[in-house]
Amino acid sequence: MESNIFASQPLIGVFDSGIGGLNLLYVCYKKMPWANYVYFADNYAVPYGDRSKEDIYMRVCTTFDVMKEVNVSAALVACNTVTALCIYELRKKYHFPIVGIQPAVKTAVNLCGSCSVLATPATCKSQALKNLINEHGREKTEVIKCEKLAKFIEESAPNFNKKALISLLPKVNFNSVVLGCTHYSFIKNNIQKHYNLPVFDGMLGTANHLSAILGNCNHLTQNKGKINFIGGDICRNYEIFKHLM
Ligand code: DGL
Repeated sequence: MESNIFASQPLIGVFDSGIGGLNLLYVCYKKMPWANYVYFADNYAVPYGDRSKEDIYMRVCTTFDVMKEVNVSAALVACNTVTALCIYELRKKYHFPIVGIQPAVKTAVNLCGSCSVLATPATCKSQALKNLINEHGREKTEVIKCEKLAKFIEESAPNFNKKALISLLPKVNFNSVVLGCTHYSFIKNNIQKHYNLPVFDGMLGTANHLSAILGNCNHLTQNKGKINFIGGDICRNYEIFKHLM
């Protein structure tokens, strides 16, 4: 069956390695409560940021095959690592619209003049991030690999040991901080306090992009959409999402 992105209640498949994408799901649900969502995660395989591109692509395809099966209207890759490494291949293989999330380098550089991007090891060494910086933040951006942060957040959320968390935050040298991993949004306030700098996470920009793709379906229904969870640690993802709400 063909997917219909103009259906009054489109079905959005949201994917992250683990709980990080719940932050983006939350922002999208607030903006587009009339859509139905299904959240796919691969919690037991976190961190994706330590895996190879081939391994990540293979794992993500397993999920995208299910998205195809359930006939999603669009997919949201709520993971900077997967976006950076695999979004072109995913768009070639699957024929529904696929929206990804990228570090908000452009916004940060425009507003603050320079930025330090915190991201997973795989994102840091990706060509996609290099291209993004060449286009929007050349000589005004530093990239900082956070080795253990995503896993720490995956395991500790929603309550963090502040001392352990601070010990995982690297030194930054520029005027603002860009969160290049959706997991980091859980500690956005801690990061802001720690550095005393503006912090950007790109969530709203990504939600706006998805909304533009879906068009004006919200005019067609007053009904609130449903949110379902598939894959990984479903109970924990549900609990963490309830906590965000
Ligand atoms: N949440 C993912 C991201 O935005 C990465 C977490 C992981 O390393 O699994 O990059």
